[in-house]
Amino acid sequence: MLHVSNNIYAAKIQTIKPYALEELDCYERMGNWQGDHKALHVEIGCNAGHVTIAWAEKNPHIFFIGIDYKYKAIYRAAEKAKKKNLSNVIFIHMHANTLEKIFKPSEVDAFFVFFPDPWEKKSQRKNRFLTTTSFQMLASLTKKNGTLSIKTDHDEYFARICEAIPDTWRVTHQTKDLHAGWLKLPSIPDVTLFEQLFMTRAIPIKAMDLVCV
Ligand SMILES: C[S@@+](CC[C@H](N)C(=O)[O-])C[C@H]1O[C@@H](n2cnc3c(N)ncnc32)[C@H](O)[C@@H]1O
Repeated sequence: MLHVSNNIYAAKIQTIKPYALEELDCYERMGNWQGDHKALHVEIGCNAGHVTIAWAEKNPHIFFIGIDYKYKAIYRAAEKAKKKNLSNVIFIHMHANTLEKIFKPSEVDAFFVFFPDPWEKKSQRKNRFLTTTSFQMLASLTKKNGTLSIKTDHDEYFARICEAIPDTWRVTHQTKDLHAGWLKLPSIPDVTLFEQLFMTRAIPIKAMDLVCV
């Protein structure tokens, strides 16, 4: 049965298609996202789209998709993309665990997961997105030699992530302090909104790049 949300942004998303879509709107586009573009890049947990939109502006030859399960974030992102009249980016309201419903195997060139919620309490950890299961799902949707980039502020989650990587991915770069010794705060999209916040609090950024083998 279709879940009907009372969230006002759920209704607003309907008014800003195709910049914002619901998962249900996407099934028939499976396998066709890239179109005439040279590559398909997907940011998971894009929040209000700051990074995805800046990338889309700089790279018109790439098609970008931002995914988030917060209605308001997706609406805000789509609103910005529409104002800028961008034709190479859309935002999808959905849970990242069901990406297999909207992408065909080997459809995506690059996935980005920046600052996934760490769900710190032991009782909440089952909600974490980056597990061996999701690494396997992402590998199945990524082209051979496609990439996955991860950043987090959270030491313990980073350690669990490192343990969870299946052999469908090869780590090409890994660091526990991406911006060691930084003097000037980098701007978006070189860093994300959350990354700026963590950097100003002197929290080292843990990061990893992987390639799909
Ligand atoms: C900590 S914020 C980071 C936002 C942004 N990536 C940044 O670095 O500024 C995490 C974002 O991921 C989204 N998110 C968390 N888990 C998700 C999931 N399973 N599926 C879709 N979005 C998710 C949240 O709604 C939130 O916008």
